[in-house]
Amino acid sequence: MSVRHFLSLMDCSPKELQSIIQRAIELKAMHKAGEIHEPLKNKVLGMIFEKSSTRTRVSFEAAMTHFGGSAIFLSPRDTQLGRGEPIEDSARVLSSMVDAIMIRTFEHKTVEQFAKYSSVPVINALTDLTHPCQLLADMQTYVEHRGNIQGKTVSWIGDGNNMCHSYINAARQFDFKLNIACPEGYDPDQDILNAAGDRINVFRQPEQAAENSDLIVTDVWTSMGQEEEHAKREAAFDGFIVTHKMMSLANKDALFMHCLPAHRGEEVSAEVIDGKQSVVWNEAENRLHAQKSLLEFLLTGH
Ligand code: CP
Ligand code: NVA
Repeated sequence: MSVRHFLSLMDCSPKELQSIIQRAIELKAMHKAGEIHEPLKNKVLGMIFEKSSTRTRVSFEAAMTHFGGSAIFLSPRDTQLGRGEPIEDSARVLSSMVDAIMIRTFEHKTVEQFAKYSSVPVINALTDLTHPCQLLADMQTYVEHRGNIQGKTVSWIGDGNNMCHSYINAARQFDFKLNIACPEGYDPDQDILNAAGDRINVFRQPEQAAENSDLIVTDVWTSMGQEEEHAKREAAFDGFIVTHKMMSLANKDALFMHCLPAHRGEEVSAEVIDGKQSVVWNEAENRLHAQKSLLEFLLTGH
C-alpha cells in the first residue's frame, strides 16, 4: 500500500472526506460515552511546529493519547531543522522512527518536499497556502448543526488567505457555493480560484457576499508571518468586520465560524462571536475528533 499524505483536501476523494467526517462524529460520541478506543496503540506522531499553535498542537497530542499512542513536539528551536538540516534528510530520518508526521510551517513546498521523502503519512497542519485540518472540523461542525452542506451558500469575509484557499477547495469537494468578500489586493490565489470554477463568486462589498448565506466565516486580517504588515492590513480591511448587521443579511438560521484565534472588534464583533449563531467552540473542539478520524484513516487505512 502506498503512503497516503494529507497536504490538501484535494488529496482525498469527496467520498473519503464524507466518511472522515461521519467517523469524526462517531468518534466524538464514543469519546463522550467514555469508550476506550485504541487503534493506534504504540504508534507515534511527530509534530513539527515552525509557527505557534494552541488548538492544533493540543488536539493532535490529545488524539494520539486517546488512541493509545503518543506524540512528540518538535520545534525548530531545539531540532537540527532549525539549524538548516535539509528537509529531505529530516524527512528520511524522522519517518524511519515515527508512524506519522504533522507539520505546521510557512512555505507550502516545505510540506510537499517533506512528504516526497517521508516513508510515513505527512499531515499539513497549516502552511501559508492552506489549512485543510481546520476544514475537516468546520465541515463536521456544519453537519452536526445543520446537516449536509451540499448546495448551501457559504460566505468568506476577509483575507484571501490559507483558510480561504481551504474553503475554496472545500467548496469543490463538498459541493457548496462560496461567496468571497475581500479588499482589492487581498484576493485568493488565482489558480486555486480557477480550479473551483463557477461555484465561487468574489465580491468587494462584504454585505453582498453575506446575502442569503447559510454560513458566514472569517479569519484574522494578519496571519502568522505577516506581523509587519499589520497596520497596512488594518487599513485595507476597514469595513470587513462581521457584525450583527452583516449576519442579518444572511439566512435566518445561518451559522458563524472562525478558526480562532480571533480579534474581537477587528474581523468580528464580540456580539457575533459570542452570540447565538456562533459555533466557534464546537468548531474548535471538533479539531480533536476530526483529526482522530483523519489519523485513523491514514494509519489504519479505514
Ligand atoms: N485554528 C488553529 O489552527 O488554531 P491554532 O493556531 O491554535 O492551532
Ligand atoms: N490565517 C491564520 C490561521 C490561524 C489558524 C494564520 O495563518 O495565522
